[in-house]
Amino acid sequence: MSKLVRSPNRWWIVAGVGCWSGWLALLIAYQPIPSADGAPPPPAKTAATSKYVVFGYSLLGMHCMNDDFSEMCILPPYNTMRAQVIDRSGEEPRIVTSGVDVRYSIPGNTSSANKTNFWTNSKALFGVALKPNVGLAGTSLKGSMKTTGNGDWAALGIPITPKDDKGKINPFQLSKIDVYAKNAFMATTSAVIPVSWEINCNLCHTTPGISVATDILRKHDTLHGTKLEASKPVLCASCHADAALGTNGVAGVKTMSHAMHGAHASRMASVASIGNTCYACHPGTDTNCQRDNHFSKGIVCTDCHGDMTAVANPTRRPWVDEPTCGSCHQKRKPNFQFEEPGKLYKDSRGHGGVYCAACHGPQHSTGPAVTAADNVQAIQKQGHAGTINTCTVCHKTQPKEPFFHKLDD
Ligand code: HEC
Ligand code: HEC
Ligand code: HEC
Ligand code: HEC
Ligand code: HEC
Ligand code: HEC
Ligand code: HEC
Repeated sequence: MSKLVRSPNRWWIVAGVGCWSGWLALLIAYQPIPSADGAPPPPAKTAATSKYVVFGYSLLGMHCMNDDFSEMCILPPYNTMRAQVIDRSGEEPRIVTSGVDVRYSIPGNTSSANKTNFWTNSKALFGVALKPNVGLAGTSLKGSMKTTGNGDWAALGIPITPKDDKGKINPFQLSKIDVYAKNAFMATTSAVIPVSWEINCNLCHTTPGISVATDILRKHDTLHGTKLEASKPVLCASCHADAALGTNGVAGVKTMSHAMHGAHASRMASVASIGNTCYACHPGTDTNCQRDNHFSKGIVCTDCHGDMTAVANPTRRPWVDEPTCGSCHQKRKPNFQFEEPGKLYKDSRGHGGVYCAACHGPQHSTGPAVTAADNVQAIQKQGHAGTINTCTVCHKTQPKEPFFHKLDD
């Protein structure tokens, strides 16, 4: 009678023996959980000694993309990664916004053009002929980040796919972010660059003899008098405004989010068996894109976002009116500041100007996450998964003043 118990980065094999005095549990062995790319987690490092420390974080909890662009495109390959660099050599930590080169790459994933037909369709879809492996924002799979003007660094629209160089699908690959000053190596980190093409429209859009996309386009034409099937490849956002792509759409036509959630809200009963029906379109029952500390506590999509009808509410602004941490946590921690006024989590900073995501990880993977890869950065920095709560990761010496969870004190 033994079972596997998962702690953030170990599988504990626990054997239980039932006896009259209760249940005796024996810890027989433990195994490090390999990171999602198969590599074992890096050795724990507790006391930082380097001059700089760098944190990487994805802008989104998950970027979804299509794999096949020959018929339609909801979203292209387009991952944005950000990083914050802190000089920890002085009395107080100092956020570094110039004088360093912040380089990113994705070890084990060095090309995309051989993994999706995006590049052969980018001209037809977006009006631009892109060089292979160069994305819509001009970045490639490696390069240097630029300062954002808000205390961190960013590489916009990295055109990565979930397929690594060995052909394995991995939605939680680790990017490597290295800081150089005058060409001298200063600091490094590993941060998940989340991407998935598990968009399960095929759960319902199956008509024998035609592809899933053809089925979708044909139904759209029948129901709305459009001629999409005859205009392949179709960019949905060319008519349906989409803040994710910066398109304004056609006046009078619903936004992409309103159209999709509103029209499908009453259709979800047929996939009730998958449990979390958001995973019919969002990645997904294989990917499990919500992998954060909340998931371990049974908090799911609808607890934070509401249901399909709520997401489709016409007064709700897609990509703007998103859940906030403060809406649930302010009651528990009245003295904490959460999101900055008027800003979302992804753009907010807390403690001394540090981005929320630098200490907590991005939305949907706030630590400790259930995925080993998402815990790697925290383990590298402080020896344990979860929120960065070890002061000397950034402070040269243990501060004498107490911790403040505010932008300024
Ligand atoms: C739970 C089942 C289900 C899933 C999952 C699903 N659809 Fe649908 N979809 C439907 C049904 C049912 C219709 C209506 C068909 C009809 O009336 O002929 C429809 C219609 C459509 C239409 C026609 C326009 C309209 O009025 O709704 C589009 C476009 C569409 N779906 C796109 C998608 C895309 C894209 C995905 C995946 C991201 C998807 N659907 C996933 C069930 C589903
Ligand atoms: C040529 C313009 C055009 C394109 C391209 C287009 N649509 Fe539409 N779509 C419309 C119009 C017009 C309607 C009906 C008016 C409305 O719902 O705003 C509509 C309606 C819908 C609806 C039903 C909305 C509702 O509330 O009933 C869905 C879902 C939808 N579109 C999804 C898609 C998807 C997915 C794509 C890409 C495969 C797409 N559309 C591409 C013009 C377009
Ligand atoms: C029928 C397919 C479908 C289902 C089911 C679905 N979504 Fe979506 N969702 C989409 C598509 C397509 C987009 C991308 C829209 C875009 O590109 O702007 C999206 C985008 C979003 C966004 C970001 C845009 C915004 O409106 O802020 C949120 C949040 C979201 N979905 C939440 C949910 C939640 C929560 C559920 C489950 C209750 C759910 N979705 C179920 C298709 C779906
Ligand atoms: C603990 C709360 C929470 C849960 C649970 C949650 N989300 Fe979110 N979600 C957020 C927050 C917060 C944001 C926006 C943060 C921002 O933009 O700064 C967000 C953003 C999104 C977006 C926009 C794209 C992105 O990745 O940022 C989509 C799509 C989305 N959520 C879908 C889902 C789906 C589907 C589920 C369940 C599988 C889910 N969310 C579960 C809090 C949650
Ligand atoms: C839907 C409400 C809700 C939202 C939104 C939400 N949380 Fe939570 N969070 C909870 C609940 C409930 C717990 C579990 C508390 C417990 O274990 O008693 C929790 C636990 C936590 C914890 C662990 C706290 C502790 O003391 O154990 C952290 C850290 C956290 N959340 C961070 C965040 C961040 C960051 C965000 C925004 C991206 C967020 N939460 C959004 C409800 C929420
Ligand atoms: C310097 C690292 C750091 C930064 C930056 C940071 N946090 Fe935290 N956060 C923490 C630590 C550490 C805790 C646990 C504090 C405690 O309970 O002692 C925490 C706790 C939380 C919790 C859980 C509160 C609860 O109910 O127990 C939430 C939610 C949260 N932070 C959200 C945010 C948001 C939103 C931002 C950005 C505006 C942010 N944090 C910025 C380190 C940070
Ligand atoms: C992710 C990096 C980071 C972590 C972790 C961190 N801090 Fe800070 N801290 C900063 C930055 C950046 C400042 C801003 C310094 C300035 O004002 O220029 C700061 C400032 C402070 C200050 C005010 C200035 C000073 O040095 O006296 C105090 C007090 C402080 N932190 C306490 C803490 C405590 C206690 C912890 C651990 C619970 C902690 N910090 C963890 C980055 C961090």
